[in-house]
Amino acid sequence: MPLLNRQTAEPLSRLRCIACGANPHSAGQDFRCTACGDLLEFFYPGWTSDRPDPAALKSLWLKRRTSSEALDQSGVWRFRELLPHIPEEHAITLREGNTPLYSLPQCARATGVENLQAKHQGMNPTASFKDTGMTFAASSAHQQEFRWVACASTGNTSASMAAYAARGNMHCLVLIPDGKISWGKLSQALDYGALTCQLRTDFDGCVRILNELVRQKPVYLLNSVNPYRIEGQKTAAIELMEQLGWEPPDHIIVPGGNLGNSSAIGKALVEMRELKLISRLPKLSIIQAKGANPFYRSVREFGGTKIEAMTADTLATAIRIGNPASWKKALRVLQATGGEVEEVTEVEIATAKAEIGADGIGCEPASAVTLAGLKKLRRSGFVKASESVVLILTGHLLKDPDFTIKFHRGDLFRGTPDEGEAAQAKYLQRAPVVLDADLGAVIGALDAAEKN
Ligand code: F0G
Repeated sequence: MPLLNRQTAEPLSRLRCIACGANPHSAGQDFRCTACGDLLEFFYPGWTSDRPDPAALKSLWLKRRTSSEALDQSGVWRFRELLPHIPEEHAITLREGNTPLYSLPQCARATGVENLQAKHQGMNPTASFKDTGMTFAASSAHQQEFRWVACASTGNTSASMAAYAARGNMHCLVLIPDGKISWGKLSQALDYGALTCQLRTDFDGCVRILNELVRQKPVYLLNSVNPYRIEGQKTAAIELMEQLGWEPPDHIIVPGGNLGNSSAIGKALVEMRELKLISRLPKLSIIQAKGANPFYRSVREFGGTKIEAMTADTLATAIRIGNPASWKKALRVLQATGGEVEEVTEVEIATAKAEIGADGIGCEPASAVTLAGLKKLRRSGFVKASESVVLILTGHLLKDPDFTIKFHRGDLFRGTPDEGEAAQAKYLQRAPVVLDADLGAVIGALDAAEKN
């Protein structure tokens, strides 16, 4: 199969600046174009002259699922023909990817969509979608012999990075906003041995410090401006298409924070169509929390010509981001696929999370913006009842159990301006019932639940 450069036996990938098109041979410490300062991306010039055979690729990838090799068992490295070359001895894998695609029958009925599914990226080794990009970017750090890797994070990136750094025997530095990340995520970084600095600022403040740090110290930046992260995260979309028998859905809906994930999934879709692995593009729509909506405003107010940084605030702390790095990449994805951008309120997020939960699928608050966004896209007519929809759930419910418990106890919005609106979600609340250790009391609770 003509996947490799015949002289070097390496896949044909190059770096390119998304704004000025410059082709640096390698990326600098901050992964920005030295000519214009914009972001870099990988592209595959070999695909135009020496296009891989789509049928051969599909059967090779399928065959690998029965292999006992670590790289073949990874849902990321299994698709390595569509990724830059990293020698196998540097690959750090926790068998990431391989995440399930679930139907959501109750949510489908509630939203009036016949075919609604969720790809649950929270079923990755560290319980968020970050692992798919991290396996690949951490391996690139290993290949380049970095001793230290670092990221700024709202929690999931740091948990993931810390795990992969530990597996690859690298030190890692985590910068997180003090008090604004969930215990679940913080505890992961600690257990995996990260040097964890809680900075008295928000995520955007952590990013600023980190960008300065990497210019002064030999640490490898593992935020999603790192194009290896984006390449790894592409595989979620490849795996999804394989799960759907290479028949794309009409819509894919993703949460938008720093906008790396939407960029990666969109890049994969465009590349898969280019390679004739799929015959058409699904519309990829991006949903933000209303309190952290710079991209929504960029598109709706400024036609995508600029973005205005904001001070972000949302209980979905994973996407509490006011100055998203990859907004231009995400904009390109919206334009290429014809997707939409939406914003959803705090109560809409909490309600959607409980609705997904009622289908037996837990997710963290940031993931639930997808269902909340779908409801709006249905109301506006952008998504039709007969169309197929896949939500990308990005994190596991247990990442942020505090949010869930407060919601069910009715405490999440108590004393806030959202308290009135939150009353509408009361029917979804299932507060624990505290009883004496008495059989009659338990039977009473059972009978009362049966009546309701
Ligand atoms: N969902 C979850 C659970 C996340 O953790 C994030 C981002 C997103 C959605 C948004 O993805 O940034 O690619 O648009 N979390 C980051 C972190 C930024 O540091 O863990 P995005």
